[in-house]
Amino acid sequence: MNAPIGVFDSGVGGLTVWNALVHLLDQESTIYYCDSAYAPYGNRSKEEILERSIKATEFLIDKGCKLILVACNTATTNAIAELRSMYPHPFVGIEPAIKPAVLMTKTGKVGVLATKGTLYSSMFHKTVTDYTSGIELITQEGTGLVEAIESVEDKSKELLRLLDSYLQPMLKHNVDTLVLGCTHYPYLIPMIESLFQSKLRIIESSLPVALQVKKRLEEIKALTSSNKASHQFYTTGDLELLKRFVPQSLQENCYLL
Ligand code: DGL
Repeated sequence: MNAPIGVFDSGVGGLTVWNALVHLLDQESTIYYCDSAYAPYGNRSKEEILERSIKATEFLIDKGCKLILVACNTATTNAIAELRSMYPHPFVGIEPAIKPAVLMTKTGKVGVLATKGTLYSSMFHKTVTDYTSGIELITQEGTGLVEAIESVEDKSKELLRLLDSYLQPMLKHNVDTLVLGCTHYPYLIPMIESLFQSKLRIIESSLPVALQVKKRLEEIKALTSSNKASHQFYTTGDLELLKRFVPQSLQENCYLL
């Protein structure tokens, strides 16, 4: 099936998942919906997150997408169940990777950096209840991180300060494994490494999610038979910001909504 895969996020964060997706499925076409005008989703109510997720989904369905990848932990944990009940399309989402972190920690202490919307969702609470027995989980809202990444100005100093204040207490608490529970945060990995060297093992889920998309397309026999992948990117926010995060060869395929 040669239709594109639809991908959405509150902003440019989902492009970290898009990258893993197009590396794995390099013949598939994609359409990316970047909702930067409404970022961050993390401080919004469940109703607002669902409303924005419906808007993005309908845009992607109208463009003929065969599968919707919710490349946003906040939208997945707050809205994917409702989206699945509303549309016949297959949906794949992303959640903080608690299960692998629990398997990897040696100190028995796992840190989770995510948005308020994700940390307060019932889906996240269920995962914690189901998989973290015997483990101490230290959660931290990443207040201000998404805003700084979505800014057209250079916010590196502020980002370093925020990361230090969020992660230093985790290290003091003997956390050895850090789950990045927001698709914007992989952009911060070089900063986290510069601050803490290899004291924290960092876990993010873009590759497992891309593999899940492949598996789902195989199951429904919807992998493409074309070898001419095309990619389009649409933003509700700032076109120049979007272009900064899109590979140069594809920047002419970026559009303002
Ligand atoms: N990239 C997002 C996530 O994975 C959304 C962050 C936000 O908009 O607050 O949660």
